Amino acid sequence: MSAAAEAPGEESLSEEEARAELARLAREIARHDDLYYNRGAPEIDDAAYDALRRRNARIEARFPGLRRADGPSARVGAPPPDGGFRKVRHAVPMLSLANAFDEADLREFVGRMRRFLGLAADAPIRFVAEPKIDGLSASLRYEAGALAVGATRGDGLEGEDVTANLRTVAGVPGRLDARERRPPAVLEVRGEVFMARADFGALNAARAAAGEAAYANPRNAAAGGLRQLDPAETEKRRLRFHAYAWGEASEPLGETLWEARAALAAFGFQLNAPAEMCEAVEALAAYHARLEAQRAELPFDIDGVVYKADRLDWQARLGAAGRAPRWAVAHKFPAERAATRVEAISVQVGRTGALTPVATLAPISVGGATVTRATLHNEDEIARKDVRVGDTVTVRRAGDVIPQIVAVDRARRPPGSAPFAFPETCPVCGSRAVREEGGAVRRCAGGLVCEAQAVERLRHFVSRDAFDIEGLGARQIEAFRRDGLARAPADLFRLHERAAEIAAREGWGETSVRNLLAAIDARRTISLERFLFALGIRLVGRANARLLALHFGTLDRLAEAAAAARDRESAAWSDLLAIDGVGEKAVAELVGFFSEPRNHAAVAALAREARPAAAAPPAASASPVAGKTVVFTGKLEGMSRAEAKTAAQAAGARVAGSVSSATDYVVAGADAGSKEKKARALGVTVLSEAEWRALAGRRDVCDPGGDPGGDPGKSGSDSRPAS
Ligand code: IVH
Repeated sequence: MSAAAEAPGEESLSEEEARAELARLAREIARHDDLYYNRGAPEIDDAAYDALRRRNARIEARFPGLRRADGPSARVGAPPPDGGFRKVRHAVPMLSLANAFDEADLREFVGRMRRFLGLAADAPIRFVAEPKIDGLSASLRYEAGALAVGATRGDGLEGEDVTANLRTVAGVPGRLDARERRPPAVLEVRGEVFMARADFGALNAARAAAGEAAYANPRNAAAGGLRQLDPAETEKRRLRFHAYAWGEASEPLGETLWEARAALAAFGFQLNAPAEMCEAVEALAAYHARLEAQRAELPFDIDGVVYKADRLDWQARLGAAGRAPRWAVAHKFPAERAATRVEAISVQVGRTGALTPVATLAPISVGGATVTRATLHNEDEIARKDVRVGDTVTVRRAGDVIPQIVAVDRARRPPGSAPFAFPETCPVCGSRAVREEGGAVRRCAGGLVCEAQAVERLRHFVSRDAFDIEGLGARQIEAFRRDGLARAPADLFRLHERAAEIAAREGWGETSVRNLLAAIDARRTISLERFLFALGIRLVGRANARLLALHFGTLDRLAEAAAAARDRESAAWSDLLAIDGVGEKAVAELVGFFSEPRNHAAVAALAREARPAAAAPPAASASPVAGKTVVFTGKLEGMSRAEAKTAAQAAGARVAGSVSSATDYVVAGADAGSKEKKARALGVTVLSEAEWRALAGRRDVCDPGGDPGGDPGKSGSDSRPAS
């Protein structure tokens, strides 16, 4: 697809041919817009799509008189589907999984769990191992035994209500089976919706016969099937559901996962099989190898296996780190590879100005998806691999990771090719592109004048983990910026003044504009952590944004501290460095950001539109340690340092790495040294481990949960804007 779209030849088109080609492109692009925006089932990737639009633009530039009113350059997005789905909030967030790729990763995972739980190196941990089906997750809420709501995962906190569609899925009981066991009054069952390989083959054959485009893989077909507006259409897809976890449950399902699985089966659910109980890392690895060997014979696609701690009380203590539970890991199968040709190499400019070389490839199917481009990382990487236009290369794709070029076939290199000359200026704004000392990345020095960086910053600002503004995809952001509707984040909050103008744009209507403005208004109050992350400061990702938000509580306090920390001798600088988990480089970026007056002004303008809510974990209010800063030192007896830290954070305390006058408590375990001394010198309260527990309340400070879904809101990971 992209090969045809990129094919040169616009220069040689006659007017008649150009007219026909523009008509074809208008149809084709409108179809892809519909697939992307309305059906969530794109058939081509962004690069191939961009190539179509570029070809259209080039032809229009040559024949401006042929520009069509319904052409792609006149439209943004696609008309919204009629109706759409209602949003539902999950009672307990739906988490995803951390990945392990080899035995070393596995050992690391098990070791981390041991350390967290304070177990001896040889203490046995039992794991349930099960296949990882490659579909999409769904949550089924049963009330009084009857299916009440069925939802997609969405962003993990809020999904779409697709109850009617889920009722048509095999393996989704309308009522829980109560013959063997009485089901809890409320039970949210989670699992995977997928399409069996045989059904996928039949679906694609039927589509081909009807002249429709084939789905790339069963996963996409299942996703498209679940989001049909007519449940009768979903039913035709013959989707299936296997249960593997649960969210809210008014009664425990057992003491172990193995027992809980039996309960789910008794209620009428199919489980991921074959499942096994394993203890040693070797047993886990052997299970992985067995499943990999069976992979092709299984009736559905799997992309790895999952290991989960069997003891549910351990799961509860372990809780989640970010969006992944600490008690489970996905052990992926090795990435699939394929050979293809490099058609072009371009350089993209990211949000922080980093220049990234990207290879456009002759489309190739790798592990069930069509790959049309691969990242070449940076200037050194492309030089090291010496990838050239025309080369035959091996590409590798692992999960959702961007495809990579792993090898170049020198023997097949066409004669006369030359090494790629990396630009020393920004390909977008023309500013100098400089390499920082010791780094491999070349960055555009254009900063605020660089259009590419500005667009990427805006895109980042509205992205899911930041302000999460639905209805503003990459293409809309680019168009809004280009046409002056939104140049900076704060402008988005003034879009209501230009509602009529937006509604008049192709691809928009009154309803979609109303939805967009409502989505924006819903973010006028937002958690400080999202606000900070959205600013796109280098090295201030989600984890650091959260730590900073917890530490400072308000934007004003943070901005003040960052300003004061320009002086590296200041207490403010040491205080920032003392935040456990935030590295010195990130602190330097933060301070640098706030010392730029224009950034200061932009943040102030933004804060007038969107108020960052003071950060305090919801579970914290009841605890006497909420809002206090605590430092752990010495060897703790009752729990590991990591568990103590997580528990303290869950109770709303800030955990710092070093003692200062801002410290409220120092918890001194055995052999505490200089930190305890310093605390006493500063007059900071020093507590024994037992005193700390009595104060914080063992139950309160323990990572809450008890469900395999975990609860990141409480366990100290992500929190949502209060909307
Ligand atoms: S457990 C907190 N078990 O893989 C529990 N997930 O990469 C989280 N998946 O979002 C999920 N098979 O959609 C679990 N046996 C299995 C699974 C499984 C497939 C999917 C699920 C999840 C994704 C994470």
